[in-house]
Amino acid sequence: MNETNAPQPTGIAALGLAVPPLAMDVTELAALRGVDPDKYTVGLGCRTMALCPDGFGVVDLAETAARRALESWSGRVEDIGLIAVGTESALDMSRPLSAFVADRLGVRGAVRSYEVKHACYGGTLALRQAVEWRASGAARGRAALVIAADVALYAPEDPGEATQGAGAVAMIVHTPDVASVALDAHAYSEPAFDFWRPVGESFPRVDGKFSLECYQRAAASCFGSWAGERDAREAFEALRAACFHAPFPKMVKKAVDRIGESFEWSAEDTARLYAEKVVPALEWNTAIGNSYTGSLWFAVARALAGAEVGDRLVAFSYGSGFGAELFELTAGPAAARAEWAAPLEAELSARERIDRDRYVALRAG
Ligand code: CAA
Repeated sequence: MNETNAPQPTGIAALGLAVPPLAMDVTELAALRGVDPDKYTVGLGCRTMALCPDGFGVVDLAETAARRALESWSGRVEDIGLIAVGTESALDMSRPLSAFVADRLGVRGAVRSYEVKHACYGGTLALRQAVEWRASGAARGRAALVIAADVALYAPEDPGEATQGAGAVAMIVHTPDVASVALDAHAYSEPAFDFWRPVGESFPRVDGKFSLECYQRAAASCFGSWAGERDAREAFEALRAACFHAPFPKMVKKAVDRIGESFEWSAEDTARLYAEKVVPALEWNTAIGNSYTGSLWFAVARALAGAEVGDRLVAFSYGSGFGAELFELTAGPAAARAEWAAPLEAELSARERIDRDRYVALRAG
C-alpha cells in the first residue's frame, strides 16, 4: 500500500453482491392476501421478493458480499483501514454490525470499524465517508470496505409487504478500477416521520403516501442542484444510466415523472428517458425487492456491468427521516469485465422458490 497522505485517485476498486437463498413471487403473496395480483405487479411494479430462511440473516449477506468483493480485488485484507456497514437491520443498539462482519472476515488491528444508520441512505453515507477519508489523505493509501446490507420485512398484511426483499452490496473503496466516485455531491434533507422503526419494535411504521411525497421532493431537489445552469435533458441524455434507490419500481417511475415536471420536459421525453436510462438498471432490483441500503447499489452495480471507460452515471440515494444525495460515478477499466455479475446471476437462478404456505410458516417462525 502507498503510505503517503496525499489525496489519492479514489473510487470503487471491487464489488461483491449477495442475496439470500429463498424467493417468492409477489403473485403468491397476492393470492395469500386476497389482493388482485395486478396491484403488486402493475400498480407497484414488483416481481419477486428475496427472503431469508430461518437462521440466515444480515450478517450472512454482508459477509458473502464482502468475501466476493475481496476475492475480485488485487489487495489484501491487511490493506483495509476502514470497515463501515450501512444498515437498518442492526443486531444491537451498541455493537456495530461492522464488528460482526469483521469478526467473520478476520479484519482487526489498525482499522476504523463502525455502523452507519440513516434508513436506506446509510450505505451511501458509508461510501461517501470512505471516499472523503481517502480524499483527505487520512487513509494514507489504505482501502475501505463499505457494505450496504439489509433484510427488509414489514408486518404481515402491511401495505408494504409486497415490497419486501433482502441483499447486500460490498464495495472496496480504493483505486477507481470499477468506477471513480465524484467528490462533488448534491444532498437534500428534511426532518420527517415518513418511515421509522421505534426502538424495540420488529417492523417499521410507515406513512406510505407521505413517504412517496418525501422521496419525490428529494429527487426533484437533488436533480435540480445537479443540473444547475445546464440543459437538464441534455445532461440526463448524456448519462449511461440514472440509478435510484428503488423501494419498488413504480416509486422510481413516479420520481422520474416529478423530475421531468420540474424541468418541464415533455411527457414523451420523460417516458423515453425513464425507459432508456433508468429501467435497465432496475433488473436486479425487481428480482430482489427492496434491500433498503443495498437497493441503490444493486442498480449501480447493474448499470456499471459492461460499461466502457468514461461512461458516466448518477446515483440517487434516499433514506427516510429523511435525507437524500445525488452524485456521479464514472466507469473505470474493470467495469467491462463485471466480475460481480456472474456470482449474483448464479445465486438468483439457484434460489428456492417458495409458495404461500411456506411463506406463512417462515413469517410465523
Ligand atoms: N391493478 C393495477 N394497479 C392497481 C390495482 C390493480 N388491481 N390496485 C391498485 N393499483 C395501483 C394503485 O392505483 C396505485 O398506483 P398509483 O400510485 O400509480 O395510483 C398502486 O397500485 C398502489 O396502490 P395503493 O396506493 O392503494 O397501495 P397501498 O396504499 O396499499 O400501498 C405503499 C402502497 C404505500 C407505497 C406501500 O407499498 C408502502 O407502504 N410501502 C412502504 C413504503 C415505501 O416503500 N415508501 C417509498 C419511499 S420511502 C423509502 O424509500 C424508504 C424505503 O425504502 C421503504
